Amino acid sequence: MADETIPPTTTDAGIRVQSDEHSLTVGRDGPIVLNDHYLLEQMANFNRERIPERQPHAKGSGAFGHFEVTNDVSRYTKAKVFQPGARAQTLARFSTVAGERGSPDTWRDPRGFAVKFYTEDGNFDMVGNNTPIFFIRDPMKFQHFIRSQKRRADNGLRDHDMQWDFWTLSPESAHQVAYLMGDRGVPKTWREMNGYSSHTYSLVNASGEKFWVKFHFKTDLGDGNAYLSQDEADEMAGKDGDFHRRDLFDAIARGDHPSWTLYWQVMPFEDAKTYRINPFDLTKVWPHSDYPLIEVGKLTLDRNPTDFHTEIEQAAFEPNNMVPGIGLSPDKMLLARGFAYSDAHRARLGVNYKQIPVNKPQCPVFSYSKDGAGRTENVSDPVYAPNSYGGPAAQPDLSGEAGLWYADGEMVRSAYTPRKDDDDVSQPRALIRDVMDDAARARLVMNIVGHLCDGVSEKVLTRAFDYWKAIDAETGEKVEKGVREKLGGKSKAPGMASAEAIAEHEPAE
Ligand code: NDP
Ligand code: HEM
Repeated sequence: MADETIPPTTTDAGIRVQSDEHSLTVGRDGPIVLNDHYLLEQMANFNRERIPERQPHAKGSGAFGHFEVTNDVSRYTKAKVFQPGARAQTLARFSTVAGERGSPDTWRDPRGFAVKFYTEDGNFDMVGNNTPIFFIRDPMKFQHFIRSQKRRADNGLRDHDMQWDFWTLSPESAHQVAYLMGDRGVPKTWREMNGYSSHTYSLVNASGEKFWVKFHFKTDLGDGNAYLSQDEADEMAGKDGDFHRRDLFDAIARGDHPSWTLYWQVMPFEDAKTYRINPFDLTKVWPHSDYPLIEVGKLTLDRNPTDFHTEIEQAAFEPNNMVPGIGLSPDKMLLARGFAYSDAHRARLGVNYKQIPVNKPQCPVFSYSKDGAGRTENVSDPVYAPNSYGGPAAQPDLSGEAGLWYADGEMVRSAYTPRKDDDDVSQPRALIRDVMDDAARARLVMNIVGHLCDGVSEKVLTRAFDYWKAIDAETGEKVEKGVREKLGGKSKAPGMASAEAIAEHEPAE
């Protein structure tokens, strides 16, 4: 007698099946027959369970929650989600950058900090990191940068030599690398780390007045500096590769809901033209003394996913999801990201990825997009605009749109026009000398030495010493001394065979 409290197994078509254990055979010992369509469906579906992982930021997890406004910032933006008393549902995903989907959570890396706000004006995505800056300032270098952090072509191994090769040939990386090699390079938990937009975005208020803004999500659990030492991180990578994922899930499950206070740094629109630092350069912060933090609201995560694949793996964050009142800026990296993510989602999840429930706006959608693989929403006539049949009509009043600025000139391939304080070393130097204390500086040196002694070739090593000496002489000296002592002299790591060396070994035509 079947237990009526347990639902019957069915095929995907809802047809009841006879056995979860035995395939259909000709006699007990005979061959399996093709009309066991349930077995065929199980095998076929299994073969298609994995979808491609995210190119960068493959390993991560997240949770749902809400955002509520706690301060009146309506003088800066008309975005409904930031008006007094507003509250929106949210999804946050935290991640490492370079590791694959199954890689350990505690590898040293920046952490992704992506938040989707389901607002009444459509989805607003803030796709940031746990660092206020980034390694590079031109998107032309991004693909090269990520490849240098992932795996070599020949042996498929991660390789500190190519990481340092890229960094030391890209001096603009100094600020982010100083951050990465410091305590915040391995946060203790995701719950205890801060999140930053890193980029500058734009705001516009109800009167059409424009501002530039940087987002700072500061953890309500401590000062944002909770970290794992390199030894602790290495040990944890072996013991529990999913340590951060587990910590977030368990905390929310036991009712210990992590929260972050959102602050903004706001720059008047005109200041950007003359500010001593290019305010759109992603390798720089705006010093707090120039643009202090303004409280905006609180992000709380209080609901775990119930299906990791549909709710986290298929989540699609994209910096181009901006709602009225918030827009992009002339940051070249941000503008490139405006394309990269939606393109990645189309490749990874299919063209109709915004119809997957986790990505679906929680407001009506009146789009003219039509058909395509995986479409679930019905399309209705008229399917074109303009039309005389009452189809959706665009709003021609663009005068108050954020993300619009003036630009004119010759087309060039060139770095940003330098400003007075636009060097690559002052801000990382301030981080090391003014923000870190003696103990944090000692840990920084120890982390760099450990990293450099692990497979970095002599030619890259000597460039790395110069890189650190340019940032901070004392740190550079200590790094060099520490590496030489640990290696007992010069590095024996071979580095990569150069293209010429490879060519020499190729069989002649
Ligand atoms: P401030 O002294 O006003 O700010 C320094 C900030 O550094 C702190 O408010 C804190 O920001 C952050 N911080 C504290 N401890 C650490 C740490 N161990 N590792 C990394 N960051 C830490 O000075 P400035 O605004 O002039 O910035 C000086 C340097 O501080 C910058 O060059 C930058 O490297 C770093 N920094 C600056 C931030 C900014 O937006 N201005 C943000 C974060 C770091 P928080 O609470 O946001 O973590
Ligand atoms: C993920 C591209 C810079 C934060 C991704 C993905 C791509 C990408 C293709 C995978 C998306 C997916 O498949 O879901 C780029 C390019 C950049 C850039 C081209 C520069 C030109 C940055 C910067 C930040 C950032 C500067 C942070 C400030 C993230 C985060 C994710 C991500 C958090 C994971 C989002 C998630 O959790 O799903 N990036 N990125 N990226 N990127 Fe970037």
